[in-house]
Amino acid sequence: MKLSVIGCGYLGAVHAAAMARLGHTVVGVENDERRYEALSKGEVPFYEPGLPEMITAEIEAGRLTFTRDIADATDAEVHFVCVGTPQTPGRHAADMTYVNGAIDGLLPVLRPGAVVVGKSTVPVGTAAGIAERLDEHGTDVSLVWNPEFLREGFAVQDTLEPDRIVMGVGPGERGQQAGKVLQEVYADILDTGTPLVVTDFPTAELVKTAANAFLATKISFINAMAELCETTGGDVTKLSEALGHDARIGRRFLNSGIGFGGGCLPKDIRAFMARAGELGADQALTFLREVDAINLRRRDAAVGVVMAWLGGRVVGKRIAVLGAAFKPDSDDIRDSPALSIAEALHVRGADVVLHDPKALANARRKSPQLGYADTVEQAAHGADAVLVLTEWQQFRDLDPAVLGEIVAGKRVFDGRHALDPDRWRAAGWEYKTLGRPHA
Ligand code: UDX
Repeated sequence: MKLSVIGCGYLGAVHAAAMARLGHTVVGVENDERRYEALSKGEVPFYEPGLPEMITAEIEAGRLTFTRDIADATDAEVHFVCVGTPQTPGRHAADMTYVNGAIDGLLPVLRPGAVVVGKSTVPVGTAAGIAERLDEHGTDVSLVWNPEFLREGFAVQDTLEPDRIVMGVGPGERGQQAGKVLQEVYADILDTGTPLVVTDFPTAELVKTAANAFLATKISFINAMAELCETTGGDVTKLSEALGHDARIGRRFLNSGIGFGGGCLPKDIRAFMARAGELGADQALTFLREVDAINLRRRDAAVGVVMAWLGGRVVGKRIAVLGAAFKPDSDDIRDSPALSIAEALHVRGADVVLHDPKALANARRKSPQLGYADTVEQAAHGADAVLVLTEWQQFRDLDPAVLGEIVAGKRVFDGRHALDPDRWRAAGWEYKTLGRPHA
């Protein structure tokens, strides 16, 4: 089939390449000149394992092209809207500028019978509004809402082998028909037995925000338990292990530490609360305020531990921060707990030197006031404390004996329960973390 993907950021670039991999002919529409130039050459302007290879292969196979001109999407039978919905500056609500802009751009190029598929994470009620606009335009075009659940670092796999496909369709035969067209697009994925949930627009929109709210709540739950462990002498890692054996609870997303960040969970729970407020249903989501607060408190707790450790003042102390990305296998620093802790220590007067295997350039751009090092060794050289704040495998594998030779003070803070305390202690280090006062 002929498809277009409007917006080739994180979601769109992966989706465009994955749809080409399924055998479709795909044109990716990207306004941003730099991103467009990069993608056209098979380069990916962010780090995502497997994606550059897939884009290059699909361009070479002739199934994938990129353009800056939406008119090149005129032939497409299905248009995927994959633009971003960031947090509005100064407010909790999602910024809908790009979604509205994508629809404005699409209207003149839609051919009769085309299907528009919304994949962006939007406030509930958005799809109904877009469907109305399409109808007013009188183009006999249908809308399907098809949220995306991909995780950074696993984006290719999550797109080609999703754990479910959700389709929100409009009323009546026309809605059903549009759903059928999208099922045709995803036929190869559905044939492998992937569960399909067909629903109405608001439910489809809610599935995405509800899923992210649930995941955020699960992380904040275990981080609240970490706070209790700190006051009672318990061990939150053992608590996670024991809770996780209950199949009803499950072990995943019970990793405590410095909390969640990234381009999705923090902004999505805030936008969800803002939308509930607009709809007069704010009470239903008041608990998410607490989820957000617990999450942010973990950053303060990490700063507090390091400050106290270094005698209550960090002015002139050298602190090596290992990790800037919001999670490993990513170069994304949006709302990263690691970077926010590094910034907080810098503000308090510490000489912070940061290293990250992939996120260094992004971190440097966002926080030029921090020191940066190309290797762990350079960052740790002469440090009074080493903070592991993103659980990259290379940090887990560090040799405490070797690192102990170059630091000024053998203090390691483990913000992600990524290190073995016994191993580091055996090499002469003091070890501290959150939620395990006796580890
Ligand atoms: C998330 C959702 O998982 C995905 O389904 C959605 O489409 C987009 O948002 P992503 O932001 O890529 O994906 O990252 P995720 O793996 O969910 O991690 C989010 C944050 O939570 C990271 O900062 C991670 O370090 C943190 N986290 C995750 C924890 O602190 N503990 C955990 O147990 C799991």
